[in-house]
Amino acid sequence: MNYDNLKISNQQAEDILLEIFNIKGSVSELPGEVDFNFRIKIENGDGYILKISRPNEDERYLDFQQKLLQFVEVNGQNLIAPKVIADVNGTSISEITDAFGNKRKVRLFSWVSGRVWSNVNPQLDDLRYSLGEQCGFLTQALQGFDHPEAHREFVWDIAQSLWTKSHIQLFKDDQKEIIEYFQNQFEASQEEYLRLRKATIHNDANDNNVIVSSELINPKVQAAIDYGDAINTQIINDVAIACAYAIMNHNDALDAALPIIKGYHSTFPLQEDELKHLYNAIAMRLVISVTKSAINKIEEPNNDYLLISEKPAWEVLKKWRTINPEFAQYSFREACGFNAHPNQNRFESWASQNNFQLSDMFPTINSNEVHHIDLSVSSKWIGHQQDFNDLDLFQFKIDQLQRKIPNKIIAGGYLEPRPIYTSTAYDNIGNNGRESRSIHLGIDYWLPEQTPIHALFDSEVVMAINDAGDKEYGGLVVLKHDIEDLKFYTLYGHLTVASATKHKIGDIIKKEGFIANLANYPENGNWAPHLHFQVMLSLFEYTVDYPGVAYLSQIGLWKSVCPNPNSLFKSEALHNDNGISNEDLIGYRKQHLGKSLSLQYKEPIKMVRGVGQYLMDQFGRQYLDTVNNVAHVGHENYNVVKAGQEQMALINTNSRYLHENINDLAKGLIETLPPELSVLHFVNSGSEANELAIRMVKANTGERDIIASEVGYHGNANICIDISSYKFDGKGGKGAPEHTHIFPLPDAFRGKYRGAETGKQYAEEVQKQINIVHEKGRGVGAFIIEPIISCGGQIELPEGFLAKSYEYVRAAGGLCISDEVQVGCGRLGKTFWGFQLHNVVPDIVTIGKPLGNGHPLAAVVCTQEVADKFANGMEYFNTFGGNPVSCAIGTEVLRTVKREKLQENALNVGEYLKTELKALSKEFPIIGDVRGQGLFLGIELVDSQVNPLAAQTDYLANRMKDHGILMSTDGPDHNVLKIKPPIVFTKDNAEELIFYLRKIFTEDFMTSIK
Ligand SMILES: Cc1ncc(COP(=O)(O)O)c(C=O)c1O
Repeated sequence: MNYDNLKISNQQAEDILLEIFNIKGSVSELPGEVDFNFRIKIENGDGYILKISRPNEDERYLDFQQKLLQFVEVNGQNLIAPKVIADVNGTSISEITDAFGNKRKVRLFSWVSGRVWSNVNPQLDDLRYSLGEQCGFLTQALQGFDHPEAHREFVWDIAQSLWTKSHIQLFKDDQKEIIEYFQNQFEASQEEYLRLRKATIHNDANDNNVIVSSELINPKVQAAIDYGDAINTQIINDVAIACAYAIMNHNDALDAALPIIKGYHSTFPLQEDELKHLYNAIAMRLVISVTKSAINKIEEPNNDYLLISEKPAWEVLKKWRTINPEFAQYSFREACGFNAHPNQNRFESWASQNNFQLSDMFPTINSNEVHHIDLSVSSKWIGHQQDFNDLDLFQFKIDQLQRKIPNKIIAGGYLEPRPIYTSTAYDNIGNNGRESRSIHLGIDYWLPEQTPIHALFDSEVVMAINDAGDKEYGGLVVLKHDIEDLKFYTLYGHLTVASATKHKIGDIIKKEGFIANLANYPENGNWAPHLHFQVMLSLFEYTVDYPGVAYLSQIGLWKSVCPNPNSLFKSEALHNDNGISNEDLIGYRKQHLGKSLSLQYKEPIKMVRGVGQYLMDQFGRQYLDTVNNVAHVGHENYNVVKAGQEQMALINTNSRYLHENINDLAKGLIETLPPELSVLHFVNSGSEANELAIRMVKANTGERDIIASEVGYHGNANICIDISSYKFDGKGGKGAPEHTHIFPLPDAFRGKYRGAETGKQYAEEVQKQINIVHEKGRGVGAFIIEPIISCGGQIELPEGFLAKSYEYVRAAGGLCISDEVQVGCGRLGKTFWGFQLHNVVPDIVTIGKPLGNGHPLAAVVCTQEVADKFANGMEYFNTFGGNPVSCAIGTEVLRTVKREKLQENALNVGEYLKTELKALSKEFPIIGDVRGQGLFLGIELVDSQVNPLAAQTDYLANRMKDHGILMSTDGPDHNVLKIKPPIVFTKDNAEELIFYLRKIFTEDFMTSIK
C-alpha cells in the first residue's frame, strides 16, 4: 500500500489519544520502521509514546510485545523500560479504523525520558561502557522469556541474515566486495555459530533506541526502548547490535567497540566461543541495514528513516573490512579479561619447561649472559634524542659498554616505550587524537655486524624480505614453528638483505641451522647492528612486514600475541622495570611536599622527555605543548643542552671570577635593547628579578609605594607577592598591602572601560593611584606591569595606555618597570621585547622564564643612572646569578632565536593562528574574544551576556589534553585559554590545535551555552 495513505497525521494521533486513552497531550512524530510512532508530551510527567500499527497487524505479534514488556517490568530490576498503558476500557491493545477503512492497532507506553544516543556528543568510552552494561542487564532480564512469536522469521535477526545474499545485485564494486566478504565469512562459520547460546533478546539497541541521561558531562546510558524487534536468537547478537551502531562516527571502530563489550561482559558474562563470532555478527547487522536501505530506497522512496543509518553504516563496514577478524576477536577477548591470544598459556607453560641458550642462537658469541640496557623514553643512557639518533655516537657508546662487559650480550627492550618511534611516520589518528606506535614488542640483542643467527627450533620460512628503509627492519626473516602441536612464529629483524632474502617461503631450516647475518647501518634501516628478536603466536594477515612496535592502547593484546622472548632464555638481567607508578609519586608528594604546590589536570601526567614543542610521558605518549613559554626555543633544544653540558664539564663558579660567558650574555641581551638600557644584573628567577628591581626602586627614589595592575603577577618572593593582586586578591590572599596601589585591569573586552579607545581612561586610573599615594603624603616608587598581562588572561594593553601611564608616573618621580618574564625574548613576533610594542623605554626590565629555556636564569636590565644609584656601596652578591653555566645557556638561547629566526616564526605562526582562532569565534560565539601577539595568545569564553564561562574553559583544556594537546586556563574568572607554546611551534601544529578545538567546541557541554 502507498506509504502516504498509511501515514497518520499529528492531529489524527492527538484525536486518537483523547478518544481511546482520554489523555490530552501535544503530539510530535517519531521515526519508526513499521509502526507509526508519536511522542506525547503532557503537562505533568514524562509523557507517552503512541504506536499505531499498519493495517492487518498480526495480533500474535502484539500479544508477544505486551507480554515481553510485562516480563521485563517484573524481571528487570536494574532496568528502566517502557510500561504498557491500558486504554479507557482497560485493554492494552486497542483498535481504530483509519480514513481508508483499515483496521489499525493502537498501543500506548510510558515515555522513557532522556536523550537518544544519536544526539549525544561526545560519545566517550565511559558512555559506551554504560551502553554495554545496560544491554547486559537487558539480556539478563529477558532470560527465561519465550513466546511463539519470538521464533518468527525476521529480516533483522543476524542469525537469519543470509537472506541478504539474494539482494547482492543491488550493490557493485567495493560495496559488493565488502558485503560478499562478510556474507561468506558468516556462512563459513555458521555451523559453529548456530550452536551458540540462544535466548529472546531485545535485538535493536540502535542509536535511536538507546536513552542517555541528561548530564552533559559523563552521561550514562539509562535504557533501551522499542522492544519491537525482540527475537529468539544467539545472545551474542544483542551486544553485536549495540556495537554496530555505537561505533559509528569514530575513527577507530574496533577501539570504539571495546568498552561496549567490556561493559556488557560485566553485567552479562560472554563466553570465549561467542567472542569468535562477534566480529561477523557486527558486520552482518550492518549488512542487513545497508541491504534494507537499498531495497527500501526502491520500495518507499519517501521514508527517510530507512536511510538514516545508511551512510555511517557504510563507513563502519569499510573500516571493519580492513580489520583482521582474528585481531578483532583477540581484542574482544582482551576486553573481557580473557588472555587475548588463546594459546598464550600454552606457550608460556611450554617455554617455562624448556631451556634455550643464547649461544644456540648466536653460536659465534660465546656467552649466555645478558647485560640489560634501557632504551625507553625515560632512559638516561640514551640521553638527548638527537644523540640517540647519531648512529656513530650510539655505536661508540655500545662498544664502550661492551668493552667493560666483554662476556655479556647487551640486550633489552621488551615492552619498552621507545622515544625513537615518535616521528609522525608512526602516527595514527585514533578516537582521542594522534597515537604513536611506541611500545617495543621484541628484544634487541646488540651484537657486531655480520653476527650469524641460528635457529633455536625446526622452522619453516614464512617471510624473507628486504624491508630496508628509514627506521625499518632491513633484511627480515619470520619463521614458523610447530612443536608439540603448539604453533608459533619467531621474527628476526635488521639482517643483511642478502642473507635474509636468500631464503624462499616454505624453506625448512632445521634446529641449529643458519638463518642470516646481522647488518650494519644504513642497510639495517639505520640502527647500530642488533637483532630484533620477537615471538608471535599469530601472524594475522601480515605477509611482508610485522609490527615490531605497538600502540599503547593495544598493548594488552600485543603482549599476549607477542609473548616475552626472554621466556625462552630466562636471562635474569632482562627484567621489566616499569618505574614508580603515578599513584606512588602522588602519594609521596602528598606526604612530603608542601600542600600549596598544585598538580595540573584531574589526572596528573608524569613527563619524562621533551622534544621541541612536544612532551612525552613515561608510556611514550606525546603531547603537543601550547603552555610552556619557558621552553622558549623548544624543549631540550640540542644546542642549548650542549652549551650547558659543555660548560658544566669545565667549571661552574660565580660572578666574582672573570669569565667571558657573563660578558657574552650581557652583550647578547644589550644587542636586543634600546641604548638607554645598558646595565645588567643576573639572577635565578623572575621573582628574584622583580625583587631586585624593587630594591633598585627603593635605592633610587627612596619610596616604597608601588602601582601595579589588578590581577597582575610578579613572582613568589615577599615583595613580589605584595605587588601581585593575582595572589593577594585571590584564594588565601589578604588584599593589597598599604604600599601597593592597584588600578583596574586594563581589559578592553570585559574591563571597567571597554573598546579599543580606552587607553587614556585606564591611564587616568593610574593617575588616580598616584594621587592616592600623594594624598598619603608619600611619593611614588614605581609602576610595574607586563606588556601583555598574562595571569590577567592575556590582556593586551590598550593603545596609548603605557605611554600615558609612564608619563604620569615619571611626572610623579616614579620609575617604570616592564615585567618581561613571560613575554620577552622574541615571543611577541613584532618586537623582541613587549614594551617595544608601545614605543616606550622603561627604566628597568625584568627577564626570566625564556632566557634559560628551562634552566633557572633571569636578569634585570636598567639604565646607567638606576644602576649607579643602586650601587651605594653595599655589595650585590648572588651565589648562582651569572654563573658560567647559566650564562652559556642564556647566550645559546639568544643565538638560537636569531639563528633559527624564531621571532619571525612566532610572528608568522602566531598571526596565522590568531586569524584561524578569529574564524573559529565566528563559528562558535562562546569565543568572545581572541587576543594577543605572536605566540602569546588567549581566547576568552563567555555567554551571550558576556558572562565568563569558567567550567567550559576548564572542560575544554581537559578535553584537549585527552587529545594529546596541553593547554592552560587563566584570567580572574578562569575563562581564558592561554596559548604560549615554545616558539618552534609550526603552522602544522597550529592547524592541529584548531582542528581539535573545533571538535571540542561542538561537544554538548560547549554548545549548551546560550
Ligand atoms: C609576569 C611574571 N613575573 C614574574 C614571575 C616570577 O617568575 P619565577 O616563577 O621565575 O620566579 C612570573 C612567573 O610566573 C610571571 O609570570
